[in-house]
Amino acid sequence: MRPTFHTMTFGCQMNVNDSDWLARTLLQRGFVQSPLEEAELVILNTCSVREKPEQKVYSSLGRIAQATRHNTKSFVVLAGCVAQQFGERIFDSFPQVRLVLGSDGLVFAPDAIERLRAEPGLRLCFVDFSDSYIERPLKITPNNQPATPVAFVNIMQGCDNFCSYCIVPSTRGKPKSRSAEAVLTECRAWLEAGAKEITLLGQNVNAFGLDVTGDDAGFAELLRRVAALPGLARLRFVTPHPKDVSPQLVRAFGELEQLCPRLHLPLQAGSDRVLERMRRKYNRAHYLELIRQLRAARPDMAFSTDIIVGFPGEDEEDFQDTLNIMEEVRFMSSFSFCYSDRPGTAAERLPDKLDAKLKLERLARLQALQERLSAVWLQKRIGDHSLLLLEGASRKASSSGEAWQGRDPYGVPVNITLPAGNGKLGALIPVCITEAKKHSLLAGSAQWDIKH
Ligand code: SAH
Ligand code: SF4
Ligand code: F3S
Repeated sequence: MRPTFHTMTFGCQMNVNDSDWLARTLLQRGFVQSPLEEAELVILNTCSVREKPEQKVYSSLGRIAQATRHNTKSFVVLAGCVAQQFGERIFDSFPQVRLVLGSDGLVFAPDAIERLRAEPGLRLCFVDFSDSYIERPLKITPNNQPATPVAFVNIMQGCDNFCSYCIVPSTRGKPKSRSAEAVLTECRAWLEAGAKEITLLGQNVNAFGLDVTGDDAGFAELLRRVAALPGLARLRFVTPHPKDVSPQLVRAFGELEQLCPRLHLPLQAGSDRVLERMRRKYNRAHYLELIRQLRAARPDMAFSTDIIVGFPGEDEEDFQDTLNIMEEVRFMSSFSFCYSDRPGTAAERLPDKLDAKLKLERLARLQALQERLSAVWLQKRIGDHSLLLLEGASRKASSSGEAWQGRDPYGVPVNITLPAGNGKLGALIPVCITEAKKHSLLAGSAQWDIKH
């Protein structure tokens, strides 16, 4: 019987991408995916950026132990940022965990898993940071299936900005860029396998190449080289830092047709006092100036962001500054979080912590504002001509044709009904936006000229 595995992933897109790489590698080695209860191997990829995800790890480990209790061979691979923080300590409390993989340890997972299956008494832990980005064997599609239309490619790992609230520098280590050539090789492989859109990933992507990489390309240059690859229709990236948005990057938005007119640019707070204590190294005026420049370079730009409410010492006036900058930028969407103390960070030691009730109250006010801004933005899209990248059949079946879901250049999910046989995974189709829902759009086809 072939060995089975089950994957559970928390956290950012980099974690999702790491889990996907490991899953593809295991599938190629003859493993099969299974429900949790039947899995010999359970991969739990963790995040520690806020309090709750960490607690989720503990409850997940309990749930896994319960679900797999009949299977004596079953064991857990703990990966990601909580694994990096806990290291071997986790072995004491959770006997089922037999492999711990820190941020730079993932590459060792496939061989380690084979060893652990052969040696039942063994436990292994890989939590040392490496000095440079460790290249992983390219695993594009398991068993030569076509690639999904949308691919994700890591360009760097780690961060040394030490924003005062953030745990990431200690869980992911120093920034380590891949060489531009390695990134391009992986992008080419995805495109050859059928991908149409690539998202470049990193904790601080626009610091790409600024660490020691043995390669001279900066981020804007990397974008140019990726955009020039044959077969690429769309290029995106997450996450950039406002302090590292260069004039070259602004220009790239005006010049590279493949670069989508959507930028996720984490703001965190609208008050200069708070930004200073967050150690973000930019102020409100600088952020607004970047938005102005980007809109000048590309008039159809839309922005999304991350916001932390209730940072230590944040008063009502500071919070109002966050609300009014949100109105000024007119973010199409945002992720917002209550500030949460992280062990060992500078903000943990700050005075004037806010109580949970106040933080939640501000979060609700901010999210109500965002809902309003998002609704206005989505409403304005009605009547737009747009290109849709078909990513899959929509959940909603329809008697009048095939229901498809795709995304527009802004990354918004768009539903469309196409006459049977007209849709194809990875096709780019011209559409007209007809209706706005809460977080998605409906479209009708503008013409039946399907580009492949
Ligand atoms: N590298 C990215 C994202 C880091 S983590 C960046 O520089 O923005 C993703 C988001 O989680 C952050 O943008 C921030 O809004 C939020 N976050 C990070 N630490 C947090 C904390 N201690 N409490 C609440 N939210 C936090
Ligand atoms: Fe964390 Fe700041 Fe680095 Fe983002 S830039 S990962 S918020 S330290
Ligand atoms: Fe979480 Fe680590 Fe990503 S803390 S957000 S999984 S870098």
